Amino acid sequence: MVDKHPAEKHLWWQTGVIYQIYPLSFADSNGDGYGDLPGILGKLDYLKWLGVDAVWISPIYPSPLADYGYDVSDYKAIHPLFGTMEDFDRLLAACHERGIKLLLDYVPNHTSDQHPWFVESRSSRDNPKRNWYLWKDQNRDGGPPNNWLSVFGGRVWEWDENTRQYYCHSFLKEQPDLNWRNPEVQEAMLDVMRFWLDKGVDGFRVDALWHVAKDEQFRDNPPDPDYVEGEMSPYRRLMPTYSGGQPALQEIVALMRRVTQEFPERVLIGEMYLPVEELVRYYGRDGNTGIHLPHNFQLIVLPWQAMDVFAGINEYEASLPAFAWPTWVLGNHDKPRVASRIEPEQAKIAALLLLTLRGTPTMYYGDEIGMEDVNVPAAETRDPVAKAFPKSRLGRDPERTPMQWSAEPNAGFSTGEPWLPIAEDYEQTNVEKQKQDDRSLLAFYRRLLELRRQEPALQIGGYLPAGQKKNVFAFVREHGETTLLIAVNLGGTRARLAVPRHMDVTGEIILGTDPARVGGKIKEYVELSPDEGIIARISPSDE
Ligand code: NOJ
Repeated sequence: MVDKHPAEKHLWWQTGVIYQIYPLSFADSNGDGYGDLPGILGKLDYLKWLGVDAVWISPIYPSPLADYGYDVSDYKAIHPLFGTMEDFDRLLAACHERGIKLLLDYVPNHTSDQHPWFVESRSSRDNPKRNWYLWKDQNRDGGPPNNWLSVFGGRVWEWDENTRQYYCHSFLKEQPDLNWRNPEVQEAMLDVMRFWLDKGVDGFRVDALWHVAKDEQFRDNPPDPDYVEGEMSPYRRLMPTYSGGQPALQEIVALMRRVTQEFPERVLIGEMYLPVEELVRYYGRDGNTGIHLPHNFQLIVLPWQAMDVFAGINEYEASLPAFAWPTWVLGNHDKPRVASRIEPEQAKIAALLLLTLRGTPTMYYGDEIGMEDVNVPAAETRDPVAKAFPKSRLGRDPERTPMQWSAEPNAGFSTGEPWLPIAEDYEQTNVEKQKQDDRSLLAFYRRLLELRRQEPALQIGGYLPAGQKKNVFAFVREHGETTLLIAVNLGGTRARLAVPRHMDVTGEIILGTDPARVGGKIKEYVELSPDEGIIARISPSDE
């Protein structure tokens, strides 16, 4: 009998790599300028070739698109822009045929104001759905009920003249917040999860999860003493002490988890931008009630300096409860692209970290070819956040532009007029070109993904810090007899790091940002060129 690969004792969402698709921008099959489900279907072989294990697709449901799909008007259908339910079923089947899991975006905090539930709710104060949303009277001075601020600017409160009350919206006024303390809402929203899980969807990324549980008394948020006018989003003026993250959230998460557990091997990934010590609480108390993977945005929010990144990684590792599985992200549809946030020369280092740190990585479409933020002229702006804060860098269009497939017109994304402009450099930066270049970022991602599949130490091995000096740091991944040393140079000058004495090792480089280093030996020191990173297989020294 053949022994099982050690990683097979773990679940797919622990060993696998997730790839996020922003569906409007991935591949357009019908020339209307918007990406769609048949477009994604046509690219599954690329994803298989690349070597990812799961795909998470941002919202594809009917929506007025005030927030480009995060304003859902029907949770159990497909927006015609993306195709039909048959297209979806075909895509799901095709993913599964290729051994790729499919995750959907679940948006529990708010619906669209066009959702029939809200249309009913706002129709009169005594409508049976009135209490499905958060309606409040004006305060004694005739103003909004409290001082809470919307993430997307202004207050969370919108006045409804017809019924003379305010409703709460943590994001746009077109995105009214659901009242999750109402058991009918819980029931209806859990039923949404079951609908997709029954179809065979492998799990959800849960949108804006932290916002779901607000203070029952709707107390005022305190001011944030660290707020810097002009540098931070106006939302940050107040600390969100009462507008989210209340104890009830753990119970709501437990409800979602229970539904997920009615189905085998499904996963919940939670979107929550929180300091590490708070974030890890959402794993739950015992490994059965919490979110499987509360997204860890350390690699997005930390300054790209060796000391900060290394400290952030170690703090996260040290904070995780014993049963918790870690997870890493470099980018998403809400944040500037990694290749623009850090220097493009560091893109391979970022990839190396994402795919060798302990835990489940999530890649963002286009990052594998080093797509950069695209400057979207004001006249072509789509994102409501960009419209709300026109002079800031808060707008999210730059990281949502069409995937660059080839040097064909519109980067091979569409035969029509793309909904967002294509990057100017698409003739140089595209999948087709990088496929033919052994030194490309794409080739590096693919090699890393392949190595990860082969090496249990990378998929499930332990993590140990192995030193940091100036711009360089190193860590070890271990499993059974295998020890891998990963060393990265986050700076633009040559550097050298002593291998920790207690390791007393020699090693051979098995993968590097520079393919020429492969096969090279290390002993006592790791020497790194600017922007260089390596993975070395360590064997005990024979001296
Ligand atoms: C977080 C999503 O990632 C973002 O794109 C969206 O605008 C807000 N939640 C509101 O749903």
